[in-house]
Amino acid sequence: MTAHRQQDAAWRRLHDAATQPYRQAGRFAWHFARGKLGRDPVFRGLIEQGLIAPGQRRVLDIGCGQGLFASLLASMSEMQASLHWPPAWSATPAQAHYTGVELMPRDIERATRAVGHLQPTPAFVCADMCSATLPASDLVVILDVLHYVHLQAQEGVLARVRHALLQGAAERDHATPARLLLRVGDAASRRGYRISQWVDRTVTRVRGHRVPPTWGRPLADWTALLERLGFVVRSLPMSQGTPFANVLLVADLK
Ligand SMILES: C[S@@+](CC[C@H](N)C(=O)[O-])C[C@H]1O[C@@H](n2cnc3c(N)ncnc32)[C@H](O)[C@@H]1O
Repeated sequence: MTAHRQQDAAWRRLHDAATQPYRQAGRFAWHFARGKLGRDPVFRGLIEQGLIAPGQRRVLDIGCGQGLFASLLASMSEMQASLHWPPAWSATPAQAHYTGVELMPRDIERATRAVGHLQPTPAFVCADMCSATLPASDLVVILDVLHYVHLQAQEGVLARVRHALLQGAAERDHATPARLLLRVGDAASRRGYRISQWVDRTVTRVRGHRVPPTWGRPLADWTALLERLGFVVRSLPMSQGTPFANVLLVADLK
């Protein structure tokens, strides 16, 4: 099998394993998990680009929804333990200690029902990211969430993320970067940004939530903000196969 086909096969296996637990959380949770993990390029992108280091054991997922990332992390470690991990993919944590912070109680319920049994037990915290206590972390993931709060509140969250990563330093080896993976829409890319806002509002409505206002920034402003907070930043396009203008910012603490 070519390396490419081997990775496709591994991804299908991972997709099945990570979405399987959502069967027990109801039809919505199951279909949402299958669709989201299958169609959003970010999850496979994180793995293929080696953005999750094995030493990043304490993972904080802000705006975690129904905890799909917790399931993915657990399935990744299972695949590595059973030697089904393709050689082209870098290793990820053998045992991730996951905390998910989410505003919506219904998402927390679905997350707990689907993946609350995993080991190590994931912590799902129903709270507003603007005021939640953030635990000491090695890796913080914020995917498509910050635009729900106003610009000043975004800065507040990012400053507290920096603090959480700094707090994690004592138990982290020197080779492991303290990393924030932040996906945002690039407001400078007008068409893609407008489409993602429209989809975002529709999905929010379908999930039965009130549609809130949103706040975006051009990519250059996101980068400048993170640099001001002491991160070294690189950006990767992360909306392949979709009409959006999404960018993944890989921000490592200096
Ligand atoms: C577009 S979804 C993304 C979910 C998940 N990060 C993913 O990529 O699958 C945004 C999530 O952020 C949550 N959220 C919005 N505002 C929040 C806040 N102030 N505090 C915590 N979570 C919030 C929403 O309820 C929703 O689950």
